[in-house]
Amino acid sequence: MKKYRWTTHKIVRETADSLSIYFDTGEQPISFLPGQYLNLRCVIDETLVIRSYSFSSQPADAFPSITIKCVAGGKMSNYLWSHAEQIDLWEIDGPFGTFYLDQAVAQKRQVVLLAGGSGISPLYSMLKSSTAQSVVPLLIYANKSPEETIFLEALENLVAAGKLAAHYAFSAPDFSAVDSRYTAGRFSKTALSSLLDQQQAHLSDAHYYLCGPVGLIDLYVSVLRSLGVSPENIHTEFFDSTAIPKTPAVISDDGIVKDVLVHYMDDTYFNDELHTYQCTSLIEVSGGQSLLEAMQNHNIKVPSSCKNGTCGVCWAVKTDGEVHMVNNHTLTERDIAEGIVLLCQSYPMNQEVSISLG
Ligand SMILES: Cc1cc2nc3c(=O)[nH]c(=O)nc-3n(C[C@H](O)[C@H](O)[C@H](O)COP(=O)(O)OP(=O)(O)OC[C@H]3O[C@@H](n4cnc5c(N)ncnc54)[C@H](O)[C@@H]3O)c2cc1C
Ligand code: FES
Repeated sequence: MKKYRWTTHKIVRETADSLSIYFDTGEQPISFLPGQYLNLRCVIDETLVIRSYSFSSQPADAFPSITIKCVAGGKMSNYLWSHAEQIDLWEIDGPFGTFYLDQAVAQKRQVVLLAGGSGISPLYSMLKSSTAQSVVPLLIYANKSPEETIFLEALENLVAAGKLAAHYAFSAPDFSAVDSRYTAGRFSKTALSSLLDQQQAHLSDAHYYLCGPVGLIDLYVSVLRSLGVSPENIHTEFFDSTAIPKTPAVISDDGIVKDVLVHYMDDTYFNDELHTYQCTSLIEVSGGQSLLEAMQNHNIKVPSSCKNGTCGVCWAVKTDGEVHMVNNHTLTERDIAEGIVLLCQSYPMNQEVSISLG
């Protein structure tokens, strides 16, 4: 996991309220898994705003891309919609996420992708990168209308090439289904169950990847569970982190204050010029206090967002000592083996802890 500064390769307006940003990575290429996401930082109205966006490109593409759909009243999505062309430099962290396509699984099992709206983004990355030979992936994708359906034309090209089976639902009241691959109206439990049956998904051992609005994901999960699909075969990604149940980070207070060494960069104005310094501070972390809380109490600037171990914004590298991470919904085993921790969920366990902020 790293920080990147990329320029723009191109901006593509996908629909009337969604766009894709293709990045030119220059000397800083990234390696990610299909389904993972990055965190993007922008200063909007003098405030730092950080949001997560899934890669819509596949790892092998020369120009990684993300695809953003405007959210009503949303800060970042609407800012990007109106300013993307004017932004010269993109500040990015990543890659993050445990929601990714396992190629070994895709080789042997039916892969079923269940999407709604901008939830197609990580699933499109999975589709393009899938090396499955034996079973064609199945996509079930809900939107308001064909005009509002992101990547519709590209998906239909994959269908025409025999690389994908796709079924769409369109909820706009004036939409009437002219093709057996279309459902008019919202999916119901019954319609979805019979659709999965008709499409001959090998239900019991297929792997299901779900991404879209919370209500739709809940519907997809309940249909799959009622069809007997095991929870281990159902993989979900929620885009609205406010919808993710927050499990409080509960850790017993042993009453011992731990000293933690923190390495970080700070900046200050001197003679009207901004200077950046490398700093090291020894901070005290009281029992039951997370590293994030302790650092913020010591005025060390650490960005954070969800505070429930989901977004990855507060990542840092543990270079020494032992910490206990309570919740982790985003770091892979490889990230953890490399010493990466989520500060909002991490508690020092001994006096030797040393943390380096990226
Ligand atoms: C792992 C992950 C991957 C993501 N990938 C993508 C992606 O590929 N494409 C994409 O367009 N978005 C994606 N998102 C959502 C994205 O991070 C932002 O939440 C979204 O762009 C809205 O941000 P905003 O600043 O415009 O809205 P905010 O100002 O943060 O929110 C405004 C209002 O909208 C609600 N809201 C926030 N997000 C959503 C949402 N997604 N759907 C409905 N209501 C919402 C909030 O509760 C709030 O009431 C992803 C989120 C996560 C956690
Ligand atoms: S603030 Fe989101 S993981 Fe820590």
